[in-house]
Amino acid sequence: MSNTIHLKADGVSLIIDTSANTPVVLHWGRAVADTEVDMLAAIEPTPHCDFDEPQQIGIWRENARGFIGEPALKGSRPGRDWSHKFELRKTEQDGNTVAFTSVDADAELEVVARFELTAQGVLKVSHSVTNLGLTDFNVEALTAFLPIPDYTKDVLDFHGRWMRERQPQRQPIHVGQWVREGREGRTGHDFTLIQFALAEGATYERGETWGLSLAWSGNNRQLVERTAIGRTFMAANELLLPNEVVLGSGETYDAPTVVAVYSGTGIDGASDRLHRMVRARAAHPTNIRPRPVTLNVWEAVYFDHDFAKLAELADAAAKIGVERFVLDDGWFGARRHDRAGLGDWIVSADVWPEGLGQLVDKVKSVGLEFGLWFEGEMVNADSDLYRAHPDWILHSGGRVPPEFRTQQVLDLAHPGAFEHVFNQVDAILSEYDIAYIKWDHNRVLTEASHLGQAAVRKQVHAIYRMFDQLKAAHPGLEIESCASGGGRIDLGMVEHADRFWTSDNNDALERQSINRYTSIVIPPEMLGTHIGPTKAHSTGRTHSHTFRAVTALWGHAGLEWDLTEASEEELELLKGWADYYKAKRGLLHSGRTVRGDQTEVESQTYGVVAQDGGEAVYMYAALRPSEFSRPANIRLTGLEVDATYEVKLVEPAGAANAMQILPPKWYAGVRMSGGLLASMGLRAPVLRPEQAILIEAKRVN
Ligand code: DGJ
Repeated sequence: MSNTIHLKADGVSLIIDTSANTPVVLHWGRAVADTEVDMLAAIEPTPHCDFDEPQQIGIWRENARGFIGEPALKGSRPGRDWSHKFELRKTEQDGNTVAFTSVDADAELEVVARFELTAQGVLKVSHSVTNLGLTDFNVEALTAFLPIPDYTKDVLDFHGRWMRERQPQRQPIHVGQWVREGREGRTGHDFTLIQFALAEGATYERGETWGLSLAWSGNNRQLVERTAIGRTFMAANELLLPNEVVLGSGETYDAPTVVAVYSGTGIDGASDRLHRMVRARAAHPTNIRPRPVTLNVWEAVYFDHDFAKLAELADAAAKIGVERFVLDDGWFGARRHDRAGLGDWIVSADVWPEGLGQLVDKVKSVGLEFGLWFEGEMVNADSDLYRAHPDWILHSGGRVPPEFRTQQVLDLAHPGAFEHVFNQVDAILSEYDIAYIKWDHNRVLTEASHLGQAAVRKQVHAIYRMFDQLKAAHPGLEIESCASGGGRIDLGMVEHADRFWTSDNNDALERQSINRYTSIVIPPEMLGTHIGPTKAHSTGRTHSHTFRAVTALWGHAGLEWDLTEASEEELELLKGWADYYKAKRGLLHSGRTVRGDQTEVESQTYGVVAQDGGEAVYMYAALRPSEFSRPANIRLTGLEVDATYEVKLVEPAGAANAMQILPPKWYAGVRMSGGLLASMGLRAPVLRPEQAILIEAKRVN
């Protein structure tokens, strides 16, 4: 069909028909043969009590074309041009990227929809609108909608809060919209990161799934919609505040890219596509170097900076094989507690009278890299910066926003504020040998405006620019995106940062779920996973060394613990753990992540399988006591069904605490096919709750 564009990659098809002079997405999902494409077009019936001609819902969803629902573009000029009808003017295709340019001559608007189907079968959708008129056009929303089949049954998305990010919630899709909104001015702990629509029975392991993820670090909106006319859609957009985007003559608004993923092999299949897409970038951190074992000293010393203690920590870290040492909050200005100092990025003479050189040299002398904490977008009222420039904070009119961790947000769209932060951070990075910075963001934005205009969008662009400029000025610098833990994790930030602090909650039991679900979108090597103190500071729970170490293995691994308190035995175990991580990080940071489906809710399995299926490592974690005296089998998914694997228990971080007379026989090694391991699986040991084991599988034929 000459009016049809068919993009295909890795078992996914996107089919767009333009015969009605507007792009209509006919299909996004499983691969379709070219010979079948004709069957998809113009097959809508014409019901009674409806328009006289069958209506195809084009991507712009205009009322003028008979669509009675939310249009893709919402906006107007004062009193007019609120309703649009876009006529397709140009279709440009370059390989697997196609761009459709359409114009509404009456409303004097041009819209462009760009679809790129990546080699991994991930669809990137980018919309923009340009004002062709002479008067201002106010954009309220520009939303990317994609159709999904009527047979999708459930919506799965993720909610959260500080210390408990990305908890799954699954429910039936009903008529109407199920909307998730984030209005924190940053991505937010409650950001869904991805929203899935699932065919009946679809799970982590099997079934058809469609997912959308907004690649944006500001206000956001994602939804699943089942319309009364019987069609179902997913959508995402930047949530714009009133008058946030007002286009002058000739100006363009580029909406953030919406990343869409289809999988016929469950959520794990979708996750694998996303990981492969992120990893295909030249700047992806593991394409540059392996991820170093990291010690962050926050939970070891908090604001109590003392050279002797930190030097002791560096020595202990070096002995167990840590490769990077990170000094957290408290080294600058009047920052002896969390009520002062933000904004003054100058080494404190009170705590560091000779500068940071003494500590940097010490850390480097024992063979570690040095990393440093910043929170550049923030300012305390008790700071030299605020005293000099109280007007540099984001605020509306004469109102000072309510304090949040006794801090305010700097208006980085203000050139003076941006330069102040850049110059001070740049000076520190120029003076000291710093490989990595952890960049925090510990408050939400309220009434965020720049010169009276809503400015979340400007703030997000400013931080992207800040990171890009710092990296350009300091080649090789790595940046971690942190926001009170996992409050700024999204596919937009992936393009500017190298690591995410997944959560402030280092309790291993909580991390079992936080890590598991965050890694659906973000590859594990970009997620900070640290061994916390024996007694978790976040929950007060006490966990064994082994459970904490095994849990922390599945990301960019590190420690956040006062190692000077660790016993000789614990240090010995930590060394074994660090050695194991170094030996396996090549596999863990390149393979396919598999979660599989939980047979019983009391335990879960998580693993990484080499891309060639040759080897794999799994974690089996007992979260709560099993309902049964013999817990459900451990199913190892993702291996080659017909290949034989040697499977065995490994204990690089010590033995898990079990309550059994004898362990299952396979502990010593067993040979089984990948098919059998994924179906019947291995007999589970009787672990005490909050314990975990590691299992290795190696292909032997
Ligand atoms: C919040 C972060 O998430 C923590 O890891 C730590 O850096 C503190 N801020 C420091 O204030």
